[in-house]
Amino acid sequence: MSLLAIDDIHVNYGAISAVRGVSLTVDQGEVVGLIGVNGAGKSTTMLSIVGVVKPQRGTIVYSGQSLIGQSPETILRLGIAPVMEGRRIFPSLTVEENLRLGAATKKDKQQVEQDIDRWTTFFPILRERFGKPAGNLSGGQQQMLAVARALMSRPTMLLMDEPSLGLSPKLVGDVFALIRELRDMGMTILLVEQNVRMTLDIVNRVYLLNTGRVEFAGTPDELRARGDVERAYLHGGGLAQKSASPA
Ligand SMILES: Nc1ncnc2c1ncn2[C@@H]1O[C@H](COP(=O)(O)OP(=O)(O)OP(=O)(O)O)[C@@H](O)[C@H]1O
Ligand SMILES: [Mg+2]
Repeated sequence: MSLLAIDDIHVNYGAISAVRGVSLTVDQGEVVGLIGVNGAGKSTTMLSIVGVVKPQRGTIVYSGQSLIGQSPETILRLGIAPVMEGRRIFPSLTVEENLRLGAATKKDKQQVEQDIDRWTTFFPILRERFGKPAGNLSGGQQQMLAVARALMSRPTMLLMDEPSLGLSPKLVGDVFALIRELRDMGMTILLVEQNVRMTLDIVNRVYLLNTGRVEFAGTPDELRARGDVERAYLHGGGLAQKSASPA
């Protein structure tokens, strides 16, 4: 049985059909990519999983439990931690305070201290800037903090929505290296990305969304073998038409 199984979800924002029958699965230990042009419904799918948006139809089952209608906090407690678009760290709080917020659902104080130690060792810059306002970190460092904060909840699964957005090419490389490391540590990850080529290099499987539907599901090799998809989505190393063809 899959760790996460989404079956035929539909999400409308008023008259706009953002997601029209998306089904996908993520198995324990898998890194699964979710790609597609602007407005394809990637973020709406992610927000549905974490309980921010409620699908009008369909089911989302995680570890045997239905997530539909559950609060974001309950879903976090069940082990799904979001790293959503725009980094969402608290700039005026310190790095330490941001990390501790990630452990807000944790009761075991000793474990929280161990985790702070673990992730500030893993991300040395966060140790260096521990008592400083998070807003003073660079974009890439803030992204590392957002990931570390999510890890403080000891998640089973990370949901990452465009973690490399707005970063310099070097920092984009750092973010992908981090995802690779988390993958090698056995973390289960659902990753929305615009850097399609880099995504295909690290994921086990990929889903391509187009206007709220799954246009392709399979392995990176299967996607690369589909010349039509390659031509439509992969030119120039990213989603070349991302801003040119909204849904
Ligand atoms: N809060 C909202 N209210 C109304 N319409 C919305 C809202 N959020 C998204 N939409 C619309 O729903 C559709 C899907 O948007 P969504 O943000 O899920 O796409 P996306 O694939 O994440 O796109 P992007 O690559 O731009 O992040 C789009 O047509 C978008 O304009
Ligand atoms: Mg989005």
